[in-house]
Amino acid sequence: MSTQTKIDESLVKYLQNVGYRKDKIIDDLADETSKLGSVSQMQIAKEQGQFLEIITKLSKAISCLEVGRFTGMSTLFIARGLPTEGKITTIDNSDEFLSLAKKYWDLDNMSSKIESIIGDGVEIMQSMIDRQHSYDFIFIDADKNNYPNYYELSLSLVPSNGIIIIDNMLWHGDVADEKKNDSQTNTIRDLNTKIQNDSRVDFSLLPLSDGLSFIRKK
Ligand SMILES: C[S@@+](CC[C@H](N)C(=O)[O-])C[C@H]1O[C@@H](n2cnc3c(N)ncnc32)[C@H](O)[C@@H]1O
Repeated sequence: MSTQTKIDESLVKYLQNVGYRKDKIIDDLADETSKLGSVSQMQIAKEQGQFLEIITKLSKAISCLEVGRFTGMSTLFIARGLPTEGKITTIDNSDEFLSLAKKYWDLDNMSSKIESIIGDGVEIMQSMIDRQHSYDFIFIDADKNNYPNYYELSLSLVPSNGIIIIDNMLWHGDVADEKKNDSQTNTIRDLNTKIQNDSRVDFSLLPLSDGLSFIRKK
């Protein structure tokens, strides 16, 4: 018998209200992002952001990497978890929402910890490997069809004990629906299975919002 609690609409609301501590800068960033329309669905959930901040602190990460910045909420939470000398490098192939992100990074006095790179995630990460860069913690939240590439590239960019967190690994529940066989669903489903069987890592698949795969390189 499973002890997993079913997360229905009322429990989702409860998690949003009680599983997140109100924060004016984060709430304003979410509000301004929501005014962008349907694209705002790309933003991480605030309760996921809190989790990213805690993991950054607990892991004592100094150097972090993110693929998929959008309006910068996940970047901001990770930056908050870093010490003063810490740095997060965030990659996005679009600069469309960078100024909005920067507005909130500045308001929160976090800009000095954030480096933004505009470019393709796979190309930039490969160039980082070529230059022998290393990151303590990598957060993956970009184009889903490249998730297997981001996973492999990340494993080359973190040391032993390094952390990789991947968002959207439940893909709105579609991973569990055998009738869903579009390329994004299949890619995420296959990656979950790959991680489950990957002896190079420890992992936990967490049902926080749209699902976080929490990975430690052995
Ligand atoms: C789900 S959003 C990221 C949300 C963000 N983490 C947040 O907290 O708001 C995905 C982002 O990935 C970017 N993206 C899509 N394809 C990409 C690629 N090939 N390389 C880099 N970024 C990409 C998109 O421009 C988009 O901003």
